[in-house]
Amino acid sequence: RDAALVVVGSANRDVTVEVRRRPGPGETVFGGDTRTSTGGKGANVAVAAARLGATVAMVGSVGQDVAGDELLSALREAGVGTRLMRRGEPPSGAAYITVTPDGENSIIVSPGANAALGAEDVHAAREVLAGAAVLCTVLEVPLEAVRAAVRSAVASGVRVVLNASPVVALDAGTMAAADPLIVNTHEACWLLGREDDQAADPAGLARELRATGPRAVVVTCGGRGAVVADGSGEVTWVDAEPVTVVDTTGAGDAFSGALAARLAAGAGLVAAAEHAARVAAISVTVRGTQDSYPTAADVP
Ligand code: RIB
Ligand code: NA
Repeated sequence: RDAALVVVGSANRDVTVEVRRRPGPGETVFGGDTRTSTGGKGANVAVAAARLGATVAMVGSVGQDVAGDELLSALREAGVGTRLMRRGEPPSGAAYITVTPDGENSIIVSPGANAALGAEDVHAAREVLAGAAVLCTVLEVPLEAVRAAVRSAVASGVRVVLNASPVVALDAGTMAAADPLIVNTHEACWLLGREDDQAADPAGLARELRATGPRAVVVTCGGRGAVVADGSGEVTWVDAEPVTVVDTTGAGDAFSGALAARLAAGAGLVAAAEHAARVAAISVTVRGTQDSYPTAADVP
Protein backbone atom coordinates (compact mmCIF):
# COMPACT_ATOMS: atom_id res chain seq x y z
CA ARG A 1 0.00 0.00 0.00
CA ASP A 2 0.99 3.68 -0.42
CA ALA A 3 0.98 4.52 3.28
CA ALA A 4 0.02 2.92 6.58
CA LEU A 5 -0.70 6.35 8.01
CA VAL A 6 -2.39 9.29 6.28
CA VAL A 7 -2.17 12.70 7.94
CA VAL A 8 -4.66 15.43 7.06
CA GLY A 9 -3.54 18.77 8.46
CA SER A 10 -1.54 21.96 8.31
CA ALA A 11 1.98 22.94 7.30
CA ASN A 12 3.45 26.23 8.51
CA ARG A 13 6.68 28.13 8.37
CA ASP A 14 7.57 28.67 12.04
CA VAL A 15 9.23 31.90 13.14
CA THR A 16 10.39 31.51 16.73
CA VAL A 17 11.89 33.98 19.21
CA GLU A 18 12.93 33.23 22.77
CA VAL A 19 11.82 35.87 25.26
CA ARG A 20 12.34 36.27 29.01
CA ARG A 21 8.67 37.15 29.26
CA ARG A 22 5.89 37.93 26.82
CA PRO A 23 5.06 41.58 26.07
CA GLY A 24 1.84 43.03 27.47
CA PRO A 25 -0.49 45.32 25.48
CA GLY A 26 1.41 48.38 24.20
CA GLU A 27 4.71 46.99 25.43
CA THR A 28 7.93 46.23 23.50
CA VAL A 29 10.40 43.62 24.73
CA PHE A 30 13.66 42.28 23.29
CA GLY A 31 14.05 38.62 22.38
CA GLY A 32 16.79 36.32 21.11
CA ASP A 33 17.71 35.68 17.48
CA THR A 34 14.95 34.64 15.08
CA ARG A 35 14.82 30.95 14.21
CA THR A 36 12.85 29.82 11.18
CA SER A 37 11.92 26.20 10.72
CA THR A 38 9.27 23.99 9.19
CA GLY A 39 6.24 23.24 11.34
CA GLY A 40 2.47 23.16 11.40
CA LYS A 41 0.63 20.64 13.52
CA GLY A 42 -0.18 18.33 10.60
CA ALA A 43 3.32 18.32 9.11
CA ASN A 44 4.79 17.83 12.58
CA VAL A 45 2.62 14.76 13.16
CA ALA A 46 3.61 13.36 9.75
CA VAL A 47 7.34 13.96 10.30
CA ALA A 48 7.25 12.52 13.82
CA ALA A 49 5.62 9.32 12.55
CA ALA A 50 7.90 8.99 9.51
CA ARG A 51 11.06 9.47 11.63
CA LEU A 52 9.89 6.55 13.74
CA GLY A 53 9.66 4.36 10.65
CA ALA A 54 5.99 4.59 9.62
CA THR A 55 5.09 4.93 5.95
CA VAL A 56 3.22 8.24 5.86
CA ALA A 57 1.37 10.31 3.26
CA MET A 58 0.23 13.84 3.97
CA VAL A 59 -2.82 15.68 2.68
CA GLY A 60 -2.43 19.43 3.14
CA SER A 61 -1.97 22.74 1.38
CA VAL A 62 0.99 25.06 0.93
CA GLY A 63 1.43 28.17 -1.19
CA GLN A 64 3.31 28.55 -4.45
CA ASP A 65 6.12 30.39 -2.70
CA VAL A 66 9.58 29.72 -1.24
CA ALA A 67 8.09 28.71 2.11
CA GLY A 68 5.90 26.19 0.28
CA ASP A 69 8.99 24.68 -1.39
CA GLU A 70 10.72 24.41 1.99
CA LEU A 71 7.70 22.85 3.68
CA LEU A 72 7.42 20.19 0.99
CA SER A 73 11.18 19.44 1.02
CA ALA A 74 11.14 18.98 4.79
CA LEU A 75 8.31 16.48 4.48
CA ARG A 76 10.09 14.59 1.70
CA GLU A 77 13.40 14.55 3.57
CA ALA A 78 11.64 12.93 6.51
CA GLY A 79 10.19 10.33 4.13
CA VAL A 80 6.62 11.65 4.05
CA GLY A 81 4.75 11.20 0.76
CA THR A 82 3.72 14.62 -0.63
CA ARG A 83 1.88 13.61 -3.80
CA LEU A 84 -1.43 14.57 -2.18
CA MET A 85 -0.29 18.02 -1.05
CA ARG A 86 -2.07 20.89 -2.79
CA ARG A 87 -0.17 23.98 -3.94
CA GLY A 88 -2.28 27.10 -4.09
CA GLU A 89 -2.31 30.83 -3.66
CA PRO A 90 0.54 32.20 -1.55
CA PRO A 91 1.27 32.84 1.21
CA SER A 92 2.01 29.50 2.84
CA GLY A 93 0.86 29.18 6.43
CA ALA A 94 3.07 30.74 9.07
CA ALA A 95 3.30 30.54 12.84
CA TYR A 96 4.79 33.20 15.11
CA ILE A 97 6.05 31.53 18.24
CA THR A 98 7.48 32.85 21.50
CA VAL A 99 9.23 30.50 23.91
CA THR A 100 9.91 31.49 27.53
CA PRO A 101 12.73 30.13 29.75
CA ASP A 102 10.41 27.51 31.28
CA GLY A 103 10.04 26.04 27.77
CA GLU A 104 6.40 27.14 27.41
CA ASN A 105 5.28 28.52 24.07
CA SER A 106 2.57 30.82 22.72
CA ILE A 107 1.69 30.72 19.07
CA ILE A 108 -0.11 32.92 16.55
CA VAL A 109 -1.03 30.98 13.41
CA SER A 110 -1.57 32.76 10.10
CA PRO A 111 -3.29 29.99 8.09
CA GLY A 112 -2.50 31.24 4.58
CA ALA A 113 -2.71 28.34 2.10
CA ASN A 114 -3.90 25.92 4.81
CA ALA A 115 -7.28 27.66 4.65
CA ALA A 116 -7.72 26.42 1.06
CA LEU A 117 -7.70 22.74 2.03
CA GLY A 118 -11.15 21.40 1.23
CA ALA A 119 -13.25 18.28 0.91
CA GLU A 120 -12.15 17.90 -2.75
CA ASP A 121 -8.50 17.50 -1.67
CA VAL A 122 -9.56 14.76 0.72
CA HIS A 123 -11.64 13.20 -2.03
CA ALA A 124 -8.56 13.09 -4.28
CA ALA A 125 -6.80 11.16 -1.50
CA ARG A 126 -9.58 8.61 -0.97
CA GLU A 127 -7.77 5.62 -2.49
CA VAL A 128 -4.60 6.17 -0.50
CA LEU A 129 -6.72 6.70 2.61
CA ALA A 130 -8.74 3.54 2.01
CA GLY A 131 -5.49 1.56 1.85
CA ALA A 132 -4.15 2.99 5.12
CA ALA A 133 -4.46 1.54 8.62
CA VAL A 134 -4.83 4.89 10.37
CA LEU A 135 -5.93 8.45 9.58
CA CYS A 136 -4.53 11.12 11.89
CA THR A 137 -6.00 14.58 11.63
CA VAL A 138 -5.50 17.89 13.45
CA LEU A 139 -7.70 20.99 13.49
CA GLU A 140 -5.47 23.69 12.00
CA VAL A 141 -7.20 23.25 8.63
CA PRO A 142 -10.84 23.88 7.66
CA LEU A 143 -13.23 21.63 9.58
CA GLU A 144 -14.86 20.70 6.27
CA ALA A 145 -11.64 18.90 5.22
CA VAL A 146 -11.32 17.19 8.60
CA ARG A 147 -14.92 16.00 8.49
CA ALA A 148 -14.58 14.73 4.92
CA ALA A 149 -11.44 12.80 5.90
CA VAL A 150 -13.09 11.30 8.96
CA ARG A 151 -16.18 10.26 6.96
CA SER A 152 -14.03 8.70 4.26
CA ALA A 153 -11.91 6.82 6.84
CA VAL A 154 -14.99 5.49 8.62
CA ALA A 155 -16.49 4.32 5.32
CA SER A 156 -13.28 2.37 4.55
CA GLY A 157 -12.84 0.94 8.04
CA VAL A 158 -9.71 3.04 8.68
CA ARG A 159 -8.97 3.91 12.31
CA VAL A 160 -9.28 7.63 13.13
CA VAL A 161 -6.85 9.40 15.46
CA LEU A 162 -8.17 12.90 16.06
CA ASN A 163 -5.90 15.45 17.70
CA ALA A 164 -8.35 18.24 18.57
CA SER A 165 -5.80 21.03 18.50
CA PRO A 166 -6.37 23.94 18.28
CA VAL A 167 -9.69 23.03 19.86
CA VAL A 168 -13.01 23.87 18.16
CA ALA A 169 -16.54 22.52 18.55
CA LEU A 170 -16.90 19.14 16.81
CA ASP A 171 -20.03 17.46 15.49
CA ALA A 172 -21.25 14.22 17.05
CA GLY A 173 -20.28 12.09 14.02
CA THR A 174 -16.67 13.27 14.05
CA MET A 175 -16.41 12.81 17.82
CA ALA A 176 -17.90 9.31 17.62
CA ALA A 177 -15.29 8.23 15.05
CA ALA A 178 -12.28 9.26 17.17
CA ASP A 179 -10.30 6.23 18.33
CA PRO A 180 -8.73 7.96 20.14
CA LEU A 181 -9.53 11.65 20.52
CA ILE A 182 -6.28 13.25 21.77
CA VAL A 183 -6.50 16.47 23.81
CA ASN A 184 -4.53 18.23 26.51
CA THR A 185 -6.23 19.17 29.78
CA HIS A 186 -7.07 22.68 28.55
CA GLU A 187 -8.70 21.32 25.39
CA ALA A 188 -10.53 18.66 27.40
CA CYS A 189 -12.03 21.32 29.70
CA TRP A 190 -13.02 23.39 26.68
CA LEU A 191 -14.78 20.48 24.96
CA LEU A 192 -16.62 19.66 28.17
CA GLY A 193 -17.76 23.28 28.48
CA ARG A 194 -15.96 23.63 31.80
CA GLU A 195 -13.78 26.41 33.10
CA ASP A 196 -10.12 25.79 32.24
CA ASP A 197 -9.17 24.24 35.53
CA GLN A 198 -5.50 23.31 35.93
CA ALA A 199 -6.44 21.34 39.03
CA ALA A 200 -8.97 19.16 37.17
CA ASP A 201 -8.31 15.44 37.50
CA PRO A 202 -7.11 14.24 34.04
CA ALA A 203 -8.54 10.75 34.63
CA GLY A 204 -11.93 12.30 35.36
CA LEU A 205 -11.66 14.49 32.24
CA ALA A 206 -10.81 11.45 30.09
CA ARG A 207 -13.74 9.46 31.50
CA GLU A 208 -16.19 12.36 31.05
CA LEU A 209 -14.99 13.05 27.51
CA ARG A 210 -15.32 9.43 26.50
CA ALA A 211 -18.91 9.49 27.70
CA THR A 212 -19.58 12.25 25.12
CA GLY A 213 -18.99 9.87 22.21
CA PRO A 214 -15.39 9.06 21.19
CA ARG A 215 -14.43 5.37 21.08
CA ALA A 216 -11.37 6.20 23.17
CA VAL A 217 -9.79 9.32 24.66
CA VAL A 218 -6.20 10.26 25.49
CA VAL A 219 -5.67 13.31 27.71
CA THR A 220 -2.05 14.51 27.63
CA CYS A 221 -0.73 16.19 30.76
CA GLY A 222 2.75 17.47 29.79
CA GLY A 223 5.38 16.35 32.28
CA ARG A 224 2.87 14.21 34.15
CA GLY A 225 2.30 11.90 31.17
CA ALA A 226 -1.12 11.02 29.78
CA VAL A 227 -4.36 9.26 30.65
CA VAL A 228 -5.95 6.71 28.34
CA ALA A 229 -9.68 5.98 28.52
CA ASP A 230 -10.18 3.03 26.19
CA GLY A 231 -13.18 1.41 24.54
CA SER A 232 -14.11 -0.59 27.62
CA GLY A 233 -14.17 2.58 29.72
CA GLU A 234 -11.04 1.51 31.59
CA VAL A 235 -8.71 4.39 32.52
CA THR A 236 -4.92 3.94 32.54
CA TRP A 237 -2.22 6.44 33.54
CA VAL A 238 0.86 6.53 31.33
CA ASP A 239 3.84 8.11 33.10
CA ALA A 240 6.33 10.47 31.47
CA GLU A 241 10.06 10.24 32.16
CA PRO A 242 11.31 13.30 34.06
CA VAL A 243 13.38 15.42 31.63
CA THR A 244 14.93 18.89 31.45
CA VAL A 245 12.46 20.96 29.46
CA VAL A 246 13.95 23.28 26.82
CA ASP A 247 11.06 23.81 24.40
CA THR A 248 7.58 22.26 24.52
CA THR A 249 6.58 23.54 21.05
CA GLY A 250 5.22 20.65 18.99
CA ALA A 251 5.43 18.10 21.81
CA GLY A 252 1.73 17.34 21.42
CA ASP A 253 2.25 16.78 17.69
CA ALA A 254 5.15 14.40 18.39
CA PHE A 255 2.89 12.52 20.81
CA SER A 256 0.10 12.18 18.23
CA GLY A 257 2.48 11.18 15.43
CA ALA A 258 4.17 8.53 17.56
CA LEU A 259 0.85 7.19 18.82
CA ALA A 260 -0.63 7.01 15.32
CA ALA A 261 2.54 5.30 13.99
CA ARG A 262 2.32 2.64 16.69
CA LEU A 263 -1.38 2.04 16.16
CA ALA A 264 -0.74 1.71 12.42
CA ALA A 265 1.86 -0.95 13.25
CA GLY A 266 -0.76 -2.89 15.21
CA ALA A 267 0.01 -1.90 18.82
CA GLY A 268 -2.68 -1.55 21.47
CA LEU A 269 -3.71 1.92 22.61
CA VAL A 270 -1.98 1.91 26.01
CA ALA A 271 1.29 0.58 24.56
CA ALA A 272 1.09 3.18 21.79
CA ALA A 273 0.53 5.96 24.36
CA GLU A 274 3.52 4.76 26.41
CA HIS A 275 5.71 4.98 23.32
CA ALA A 276 4.24 8.38 22.44
CA ALA A 277 5.01 9.72 25.93
CA ARG A 278 8.67 8.69 25.51
CA VAL A 279 8.87 10.36 22.10
CA ALA A 280 7.25 13.59 23.36
CA ALA A 281 9.61 13.65 26.38
CA ILE A 282 12.64 13.47 24.05
CA SER A 283 11.20 16.23 21.85
CA VAL A 284 10.94 18.77 24.70
CA THR A 285 14.64 18.41 25.56
CA VAL A 286 15.66 19.90 22.19
CA ARG A 287 14.70 23.27 20.67
CA GLY A 288 12.20 23.43 17.84
CA THR A 289 9.56 21.04 16.56
CA GLN A 290 10.41 18.70 13.65
CA ASP A 291 14.16 19.06 14.29
CA SER A 292 13.69 17.70 17.80
CA TYR A 293 11.80 14.53 16.88
CA PRO A 294 13.65 11.26 17.47
CA THR A 295 14.16 8.28 15.18
CA ALA A 296 13.17 4.82 16.39
CA ALA A 297 16.80 4.16 17.39
CA ASP A 298 16.77 7.22 19.70
CA VAL A 299 13.78 5.98 21.72
CA PRO A 300 14.63 3.67 24.64
O1 RIB B 1 2.18 22.51 17.65
C1 RIB B 1 3.24 23.28 17.19
C2 RIB B 1 2.91 23.90 15.87
O2 RIB B 1 1.83 24.76 16.04
C3 RIB B 1 4.01 24.75 15.27
O3 RIB B 1 4.88 24.03 14.43
C4 RIB B 1 3.24 25.85 14.56
O4 RIB B 1 3.36 25.81 13.18
C5 RIB B 1 1.80 25.69 15.00
O5 RIB B 1 1.05 25.10 14.01
NA1 NA C 1 11.31 20.41 20.89
